[in-house]
Amino acid sequence: MRVEDLDFRVDSGVYAPAEDSFLLIDAIDLNRDDVFLDVGCGAGLLTLGAAGIARRVVATDISLKAARNTLRNLKRNGLEHPCSVMQSDLLGSIPPAALFSVIAFNPPYLPYDGTTTQMDHAFVGGAKGTELTEHFIQQAVRHLQRGGSIFVVSSSLASIKDLKNVMVKCGLRIEVVESLPIFFEKIQVLKGIQH
Ligand SMILES: C[S@@+](CC[C@H](N)C(=O)[O-])C[C@H]1O[C@@H](n2cnc3c(N)ncnc32)[C@H](O)[C@@H]1O
Repeated sequence: MRVEDLDFRVDSGVYAPAEDSFLLIDAIDLNRDDVFLDVGCGAGLLTLGAAGIARRVVATDISLKAARNTLRNLKRNGLEHPCSVMQSDLLGSIPPAALFSVIAFNPPYLPYDGTTTQMDHAFVGGAKGTELTEHFIQQAVRHLQRGGSIFVVSSSLASIKDLKNVMVKCGLRIEVVESLPIFFEKIQVLKGIQH
């Protein structure tokens, strides 16, 4: 499914898909046997893309506005059938026994710079930028099928080294699958493969 063909709308207060969203979409190669979890779904672009391919799709966001926006976008495009959307802090509302073959998160990945805005939930990932993503990795590995993959976006402005250390400690082999310089930072998509 091509993004241009979707009736896709972004509600106020919800992250509008940007370079990082598209980089993550490019990095993930789903097939029809996959069970996919989109953490921090925002307006749901990744979820909608996966809904046309994967066997089952679950989308979560800590923001109720974002979860509702994703559900409305799914319905607008008749793609709600293989999907569940829920408000959740990371994977906190996912049933303990649920397993996924692919889990993705385009997280808030910037370090806190001392200022506060209403969109911090979409941009700021902690003092060094990676804290939230590190928590995500620790939770996500418990919901990964054998041989499954986790995809996360990170920035050169954040502490990618710490994030990689957590991924390795969690038993993941890391590949940098996409990389893009934008303005003063380079964003990367890290793939963690369970082995
Ligand atoms: C950079 S936006 C990405 C949105 C969308 N996935 C995309 O790529 O366009 C980050 C998203 O993560 C969500 N988020 C932030 N903290 C979260 C948490 N603790 N649990 C789940 N989602 C979270 C935000 O509300 C926001 O929608």
